[in-house]
Amino acid sequence: MRSLIDIVDFSVDELKEMMDVAIDIGNNPAKYSEACKGKKLATLFFEPSTRTRLSFEAAMWELGGSVIGFSSASSSSAAKGESYADTAKVISCYADIIAMRSPVEGSSYVASINASVPVINGGDGGHCHPTQTLADLLTIYKHKGGFDNLTVGFCGDLKYGRTVHSLIGALSRYNNVNIVLISPKELVLPDYIKEEVLEKNNMEYVEVTSLEDNIGCLDILYMTRIQRERFDDPEEYERLKNSYVLDVEKMAKAKSDMYVLHPLPRVNEISVKVDADPRAVYFEQCLNGKHMRMALILKLLEEKAKDPVIVDRFAGEKLLINRYRCTNTKCISQNEQELDQVFKVVDEENNVCRCIYCDKLA
Ligand code: NCD
Repeated sequence: MRSLIDIVDFSVDELKEMMDVAIDIGNNPAKYSEACKGKKLATLFFEPSTRTRLSFEAAMWELGGSVIGFSSASSSSAAKGESYADTAKVISCYADIIAMRSPVEGSSYVASINASVPVINGGDGGHCHPTQTLADLLTIYKHKGGFDNLTVGFCGDLKYGRTVHSLIGALSRYNNVNIVLISPKELVLPDYIKEEVLEKNNMEYVEVTSLEDNIGCLDILYMTRIQRERFDDPEEYERLKNSYVLDVEKMAKAKSDMYVLHPLPRVNEISVKVDADPRAVYFEQCLNGKHMRMALILKLLEEKAKDPVIVDRFAGEKLLINRYRCTNTKCISQNEQELDQVFKVVDEENNVCRCIYCDKLA
């Protein structure tokens, strides 16, 4: 049995298969309308969501299944202090598959090793958001026919934007993808992604601050919102919140086949006037997200039927148990009772270790 915690849990071939299924679902919805008859999806949302939760719920209904769940931490036993591990064990008695979101980094992984059903990470703090990446990949695939040789710009909050982290992870597995990172210096991409993903995969990347000066070279522009809820200092958010606005004037400098994606919600970083531009595909991305989530539910339930034993995503890796302590206050290892501190060795020679839950350095 498998879960989806990080986008790299699926191979490039599996992602391609899922995109093909999602396209078929879009073309022939009736063919899939009873595919999950009798199955239940639980949506456990400890953090606000519009698209992710509702597209999961719509996805399961359209597959003929049904849905249970909650949409805020305050309406669940988390408010009484229940752990993610216990929640996962309990919900496994009621549902065939779980989709969850939480502000705590690594929480979906901990749920997945305690659940007896597949767990889907719908966003764990500022860490990962692999199902948004599924929507992003299908949107790029439909417009560009593939991923090799693209120049992809990421603009906005690259520090806390979990959708950025996951999409870069996915793109690292294709050939000759060039990355242009556009952000204020306070919100640059975390070092672990630069080191472990971009540099390890020999990807070309630049870090710049101006959208205007760089938009002309892009094939894809991935805009993001400044993530107010993740800032420790509200004044810093106030200072940075209007860093970028994509408007009609800037779009005029872009290639005629440069597509604009945004995971949404938008605050003010894309002018509403840009919506009429055929290169603006962020609403289409939402529909693609529902079809990909349908393909994902089918895939994980199929895998579970083949083999109900949990496959731990760190099986076979060199792990250090309780040798170091994670210093990230948003990591599950600082929030969950009696959880071992576990680090994976990523570079034995230089003694580099990262927390398995949140990827931060030891
Ligand atoms: C994103 C998220 O939750 O990280 N939203 C989404 O799921 N589509 C992006 C965001 O909140 O800015």
